[in-house]
Amino acid sequence: MKTWRVIDLIEWTAKYFERHEIPTPRLDAELLLGYILQKSRLQLYLHFEMPVFHEGLSQFRTLIKKRAARMPVSYLTNHKEFLSLDFYVNQHVLIPRPETEVLVETVLQQQQGQCRFVDIGTGSGAIAISLAYHRPDWEAVATDVGTEILEVAQKNAAAHNCADRLTFLQGDLFDPLGELSNPRFDWIASNPPYVSTEEAATLSPDVRKHEPEIALFAGSDGLSIIRRIVADAPKFLNLHGKLILEIGYNQSPAVQDLIKSHPSYTDYQVIKDYSGIERIIVAGV
Ligand SMILES: C[S@@+](CC[C@H](N)C(=O)[O-])C[C@H]1O[C@@H](n2cnc3c(N)ncnc32)[C@H](O)[C@@H]1O
Repeated sequence: MKTWRVIDLIEWTAKYFERHEIPTPRLDAELLLGYILQKSRLQLYLHFEMPVFHEGLSQFRTLIKKRAARMPVSYLTNHKEFLSLDFYVNQHVLIPRPETEVLVETVLQQQQGQCRFVDIGTGSGAIAISLAYHRPDWEAVATDVGTEILEVAQKNAAAHNCADRLTFLQGDLFDPLGELSNPRFDWIASNPPYVSTEEAATLSPDVRKHEPEIALFAGSDGLSIIRRIVADAPKFLNLHGKLILEIGYNQSPAVQDLIKSHPSYTDYQVIKDYSGIERIIVAGV
């Protein structure tokens, strides 16, 4: 019987993934094998000749089949790095994206001193937890619609030692803030669902088939949730507080119009992501 070495498995799987039109075949093969063998990609490179035996092979085969059916690597490994922090993810939550790192970095750059913020639609907790992690004197509330989603965020908060400074509340957008004795914040941050239902067919199969619809779609123009957040946020902001939103690649003009036509906003700023797309809007009251 053939003995499979690390290098054989990587090369065979990369070719298999290529035939299944996986966008990053070799990288995915390495990440999945590394996950099974509990080795980093560098360690795999240092152990190319190492044989992989029966149990490892059968676990790897299962993951290969799921990846070929376009299950994202992060859901198979329950892991995604966000701003150098390790986040647990499962299919109840969106896999955090690099664009959202720009949102977090913007808040960290613009806010000096103490701060109380709310993260609307927290998902894995990527925004709330990375802000709390980098600013140990900040406090936050994080909301989302489902208990399974909030369980993921709570698990991540505990892993990054900030559970004591984060309050997780379940409900629709700002509704759960009604439970609080002080429902006003210095910052409201949100990466809301913003994909239009018409765009569904254009999404990659990884996203369309496996990421939660509630995290992606927001009506026929993708703005149904953003519209509600822009309209209601001023009621929950302290004087000189700020709303920061991640938006879709083509939504900047429409969101700027929403902000300009709301009497409570005094100024706003548009920030580009790493690809040069207008991705983040910061609006002050
Ligand atoms: C694009 S995901 C962002 C998740 C996470 N904040 C991130 O940046 O990775 C949007 C999140 O908003 C949540 N969501 C959708 N509709 C909502 C609503 N009406 N009220 C509260 N949260 C909502 C979804 O469950 C999902 O977790």
